[in-house]
Amino acid sequence: MQEKIQEIHQQVDVFVIENKDQLEAFRIAYVGRKSVIGELFDGLKNVPAEQRREIGQQLNGLKDFAQNKFNEMQALLEASSENAVSIEFDLTLPVIPQENGTLHPLSVVRARIIEIFEKMGFNVSDGPEIETDFYNFTALNFAENHPAREMQDTFFIEKKGGNVADDVLLRTHTSNVQIRLMQQKQPPLRSIMPGRVYRNEAISARAHCLFHQVEGLYIDKNVGFKDLKDTLYHFAKEMFGKDTKVRYRPSYFPFTEPSAEIDITCLICKGVGCNVCKYTGWVEIAGSGMVDPNVLENCGIDSKEYTGFAFGMGIERITMLKYGIKDLRLFTENDVRFLRQFEGV
Ligand code: DAH
Repeated sequence: MQEKIQEIHQQVDVFVIENKDQLEAFRIAYVGRKSVIGELFDGLKNVPAEQRREIGQQLNGLKDFAQNKFNEMQALLEASSENAVSIEFDLTLPVIPQENGTLHPLSVVRARIIEIFEKMGFNVSDGPEIETDFYNFTALNFAENHPAREMQDTFFIEKKGGNVADDVLLRTHTSNVQIRLMQQKQPPLRSIMPGRVYRNEAISARAHCLFHQVEGLYIDKNVGFKDLKDTLYHFAKEMFGKDTKVRYRPSYFPFTEPSAEIDITCLICKGVGCNVCKYTGWVEIAGSGMVDPNVLENCGIDSKEYTGFAFGMGIERITMLKYGIKDLRLFTENDVRFLRQFEGV
């Protein structure tokens, strides 16, 4: 019995109490009536009468030792949790402002464009911004002396001197990705290709040397002009609202035949006429057309079996129309007063 008392004394002494759970575990083990110490008191009646007094005193000492430790630790824990509470909830402290970042308006619109086309079964493809003339011009059916190749439009990185198709440049449009995609995969192909493009233009409210486009390509058997019209009609309604009207104007691109430019009713004046739409009531949102058979053949696709349409639109232009932004330069200046207006958009 005496050995047991010593052993428990030792246990009580080293028991670590750092939180309320540990305090409760200690209480159950050493303080309550059903604790080991309580059990020892029960066993006292079996101790020979001549030792009972002495062992009883030892047991009482142990009981007090455990009870005192419990009282002390309970007081200590209560005091420290009171402190913690008062630090956590000091209602007199000023609020720390929570600064939320915002998505760039071009990212918002890019994501929306992708979302609309994904629902129509288009996937997203990517391609290089540093390109050879072949992918940016030659394979897209640009004649060798086409004016778009001239220095004022294109940033050339390396003129090889021999075959123009080998010249290295910054892509002037996302149409290069069409070619790469058609070279890699046989139809059916249905993909959109967002990305940065570069043109050697003086920076102004209406022009920039860096901007963004989304290219679209759909190649399969029996794809017709009606598919092109339906697709972009649906896109315009989803992007700009159900009341938006769409019209197709004949146009020319080397890589499509026939080609069309796509206009929507001016969102600023609702078609009445204003300076944004130059008093026509219409604004252009995209170029498009049926992929020229030469382009399909350049990429190893049988133009007798497959047809397709393509389109390309400027993300800046769509964003400016959607949010009534009048100056292209705002997109690259990173003025937070501009960017903050797109919080939660
Ligand atoms: N690449 C043209 C441009 O940058 C836009 C374009 C027009 C793309 C017609 C197309 C298309 O795919 O079919 O102006």
